[in-house]
Amino acid sequence: MITLTKPFTLATLLKCAECHKEYPLSSINTYATCCNQPLIVKYDNSLEFIKETLQFRQNNMWRYSEMLPVLKEDNIITLGEGMTPMFALNKLADRYGFSNLLLKDESFNPTGSFKARGLSVAVSKAKEFGVTKCIIPTAGNAGGALAAYCAKANIKCTVVMPSHTPKIFKQECELYGASLILIDGLINDCAKKIAEINKEGLYFDMSTLKEPYRLEGKKTMGYEIAEQLNWQLPDVIIYPAGGGTGLIGIWKAFKEMLSMGWITGPLPRMIAVQSKECAPIIEVLKDPVNWKNNFIPKPTIANGLAVPYPFGMNMMLQVLEESGGTAIAVEEEEIAGGVKEIAKMEGLLISPEGAATWKALLHLNRTQVIADSEKVLLLNTGSGYKYLDNFNYG
Ligand SMILES: Cc1ncc(COP(=O)(O)O)c(C=O)c1O
Ligand SMILES: [Zn+2]
Repeated sequence: MITLTKPFTLATLLKCAECHKEYPLSSINTYATCCNQPLIVKYDNSLEFIKETLQFRQNNMWRYSEMLPVLKEDNIITLGEGMTPMFALNKLADRYGFSNLLLKDESFNPTGSFKARGLSVAVSKAKEFGVTKCIIPTAGNAGGALAAYCAKANIKCTVVMPSHTPKIFKQECELYGASLILIDGLINDCAKKIAEINKEGLYFDMSTLKEPYRLEGKKTMGYEIAEQLNWQLPDVIIYPAGGGTGLIGIWKAFKEMLSMGWITGPLPRMIAVQSKECAPIIEVLKDPVNWKNNFIPKPTIANGLAVPYPFGMNMMLQVLEESGGTAIAVEEEEIAGGVKEIAKMEGLLISPEGAATWKALLHLNRTQVIADSEKVLLLNTGSGYKYLDNFNYG
């Protein structure tokens, strides 16, 4: 393995996503209390990080370490996350008449989902700060990933998860040595339980966007998309959005790469896909002021999309607006049908969340939001193998 060039990171400080107030990188931080919004890591792009050096780097997401916030290489907790494959879905493309249809398959990550990226960085930072106990509310995948990275880092881990989550998500947490608490409800109910357990602040709370570093891990998907496509971005990226870290992270990566001169515009239109059972982004777009009044979130077979009140809502809306994208919700039957169709046609057993992006594409193509000729990238965020209970194979 080639030693990374110094400095190891170009990270300089944290900023409030809303008012840009600065927070130090040197102390442990959660979110921006000034505006009750996420904290964003900023980097010094005047120091050179040239993309040509990447060819000598390790084949995982830590190849972008200058643009990741870990200060010392020794603190990295890695299980080999990142550099997941990108497949051309040629059979589906031929059948439906798309000229360039790609899928980035995050199921190849440790613990079978893209959550590994964010939690690798967050646990590395927790180790750097000497944290000994973490806690997380989860729809499934994030809990398993946190449990695995905490096992490796010798950090105690508590996972709070909806009781209706497929069995394997619970089993993996226990196998990785985490304490598991099950709640009748959705992820927001799990968060309430955590507030109760953590009244005295004894645990470090790893909730989505309530700490600044999971976003940095997730953004490496954006760097990889650019690198794997030889720095020519797709026209459209379709992403299954729950808490929104992936969507926000990929966009952050694109903007960082623009400012480093690694890519040129135009940037892709970003599309957020949700389940009709729980589609807060669609609700907000319909009625920004009163959307919560008649909103009744329900569970979905795409467990990761059941995030009723995302803390990063404003940031997600900003990505959709800046990129000229949109949000769309799909039916449960469509999601299940999508999993089966992609498995039969392409030999990939992807997560229901990933399959939702395929069905969203068909809708958006029918309504001429996306043309047949466009280069479209779907994100499969996790492995379908973890969800078999949802298909009556449990
Ligand atoms: C497989 C999968 N896809 C998508 C999501 C939503 O992720 P994000 O928080 O990045 O929107 C989750 C979250 O649990 C997930 O597990
Ligand atoms: Zn602020």
